[in-house]
Amino acid sequence: MRTLHSQQISTHRRTMTAYYKIHSHFYDATRWAFLYGRRRLVEELHIRPGERVIEIGCGTGANFAAIHTKLRNSGELIGIDCSAPMLHKAAQRVRRNGWTNVRLIDLEYGKETITRGKTDVVLFSYSLSMIADWELALACAHSELWPGGRIGVLDFCKRANSSNWFAEWLALNHVTVDRPYQERLRRLFAERVHMCYDAWAGLWSFYLHVGLKPQSHKLAGSVSPTNGEARDTSS
Ligand SMILES: C[S@@+](CC[C@H](N)C(=O)[O-])C[C@H]1O[C@@H](n2cnc3c(N)ncnc32)[C@H](O)[C@@H]1O
Repeated sequence: MRTLHSQQISTHRRTMTAYYKIHSHFYDATRWAFLYGRRRLVEELHIRPGERVIEIGCGTGANFAAIHTKLRNSGELIGIDCSAPMLHKAAQRVRRNGWTNVRLIDLEYGKETITRGKTDVVLFSYSLSMIADWELALACAHSELWPGGRIGVLDFCKRANSSNWFAEWLALNHVTVDRPYQERLRRLFAERVHMCYDAWAGLWSFYLHVGLKPQSHKLAGSVSPTNGEARDTSS
């Protein structure tokens, strides 16, 4: 396992690191209670042995076991996060399980591509809504994929009937729900699955999107990522 450090310390990285310094200790014990749909996301991505999968904002690696089961110890799983305390938990999980095909990268994602179009699957599981420059992050994710590669996004959303109370509580926890994520995903990727759910009678809502990178596609809008490998200063 290698860890990449390729960024200067930004405000966003500082915020994520400070927020998860405490939360990382009880993250796995508490988040199952409201981060619904994570197993479903992995199922809907139809990950096959030998594929390269990138999880952006992988946190403690809560999705790794499900992804690893699909990869059957082959291919590669790259977990990216910009919060050192979360990555530390992810590294412990990787070590504990003896996974040899998992690489962790300490990176604030959204400025450059890591694999330059050589990835089969990219997923954002409850991370896109925390990424300050989410449009660039999606453009980078688009650039990671081969034509025909899959993207999966699972996240909170605000529906007409969902409560303001929960959206306000999410905002206090650095989660922004009122951006046009779903519209952007539909513009960039050919939709395969799109589902919206209400949890607890509309106390909050979340969506699951799976899309394909079209065979030939020009990025809509003005954002475009740099095609550069992140610098590896580890090992
Ligand atoms: C709510 S957690 C989700 C963790 C995991 N994906 C899961 O489903 O449990 C969001 C994670 O995204 C990370 N994150 C936020 N912005 C990021 C960025 N720009 N680049 C990389 N990671 C980011 C945070 O540090 C945090 O670990």
